Amino acid sequence: MAQVFHRSANVLARASIIGGGLAAVAIVSIASVIYRSPVLTQVNIAKDQPIPFSHQRHVGANGIDCRYCHTSVEKSGVANIPPTETCMTCHSQILADAPMLQPVHESWKSGKPIEWTRVYDLPDFVYFDHSIHVAKGIGCTTCHGEIQTMPLTLKATTLHMSWCLECHRAPEKFIRPKDKVFDVDWKPAADRGERLEAGLKLVEEYNVNVEQLTNCSICHR
Ligand code: HEC
Ligand code: HEC
Ligand code: HEC
Ligand code: HEC
Ligand code: HEC
Repeated sequence: MAQVFHRSANVLARASIIGGGLAAVAIVSIASVIYRSPVLTQVNIAKDQPIPFSHQRHVGANGIDCRYCHTSVEKSGVANIPPTETCMTCHSQILADAPMLQPVHESWKSGKPIEWTRVYDLPDFVYFDHSIHVAKGIGCTTCHGEIQTMPLTLKATTLHMSWCLECHRAPEKFIRPKDKVFDVDWKPAADRGERLEAGLKLVEEYNVNVEQLTNCSICHR
């Protein structure tokens, strides 16, 4: 039978398979670089805010507890952003005439809330709840980074599914005593073995149900 394909077609076919494979790998790796790049994830990028509110000043320097402003974080799924009234408890007196605080006074007079730009925002198809994490000994700084050092609030993590799962697979690596959840200076034991032992003890003490924590349905309801 006559050869339908010239011998060189074989070489071409092989080359195109290898070439195609390489191109696919390249596309996937470029896509994953973009997926994890700060441009998309917004990690460590400060957003424009109507007032340059500083956690470094209010938490780091002044030592104000998170719950003074984020009052609902222990009780509900969402942590509230404080209303203007909360700022006014101090700023009706402190820096009352500072230009930086004029938007606070204007909002107070007009009754129109300050429009803060969201820093952390999950897609709508993901279910998240603050109160359960607080109740089980997961600290604010574990997920939001060293917020007490931030002059402007930066996103400390990607909020990717893999980030949630890293902890849901092994909460013993991150858990802390419940009374330290709001403590921004808390550090785990320096010794690795000691740290793990303490973690495993807390996971048991707080009845953390590790088996169910990787079920798709707990985050995708
Ligand atoms: C004096 C009031 C005040 C205190 C105290 C405070 N915050 Fe905030 N927080 C704010 C305001 C106002 C914003 C909105 C502006 C911004 O993002 O910086 C905010 C924003 C945030 C955000 C980003 C929310 C978003 O947009 O997704 C996180 C996370 C946060 N705070 C965590 C904390 C933690 C953790 C503590 C305690 C260690 C704390 N805050 C203490 C007032 C406060
Ligand atoms: C418990 C008291 C308290 C509350 C509540 C409070 N602040 Fe302050 N704030 C302070 C103090 C104290 C300073 C520092 C004053 C100074 O520098 O003399 C300050 C400083 C500031 C400054 C000046 C810049 C800086 O970082 O030093 C801004 C802006 C500001 N606060 C915004 C806010 C906003 C917005 C809110 C409400 C979400 C708020 N504060 C709630 C006590 C408070
Ligand atoms: C297990 C990780 C985790 C812990 C622990 C955690 N947060 Fe959050 N936080 C998130 C995620 C995820 C979001 C975004 C939620 C969304 O978009 O639905 C968020 C959002 C926020 C917001 C914006 C409002 C909201 O609820 O969406 C504030 C304010 C906040 N967190 C404060 C805190 C404070 C204060 C603590 C400590 C008591 C804390 N967070 C502990 C993961 C965490
Ligand atoms: C640093 C550790 C940590 C991180 C990060 C974390 N979680 Fe959790 N999560 C926990 C622990 C511990 C529990 C409590 C489990 C229990 O009660 O048995 C929990 C519980 C939950 C629950 C409640 C399950 C139920 O039974 O109601 C949901 C939903 C959840 N996490 C979603 C998320 C999502 C979504 C993310 C990422 C955006 C996330 N978590 C990141 C540690 C973490
Ligand atoms: C601990 C919480 C959590 C659990 C458990 C979880 N997911 Fe997700 N999932 C997320 C978050 C957060 C996102 C959005 C962020 C992102 O895109 O990574 C997401 C995104 C997704 C997406 C959208 C595509 C993507 O990657 O952006 C799919 C599909 C998905 N999850 C499927 C699953 C399946 C299937 C399971 C069970 C094997 C599962 N998830 C378990 C938190 C979770």
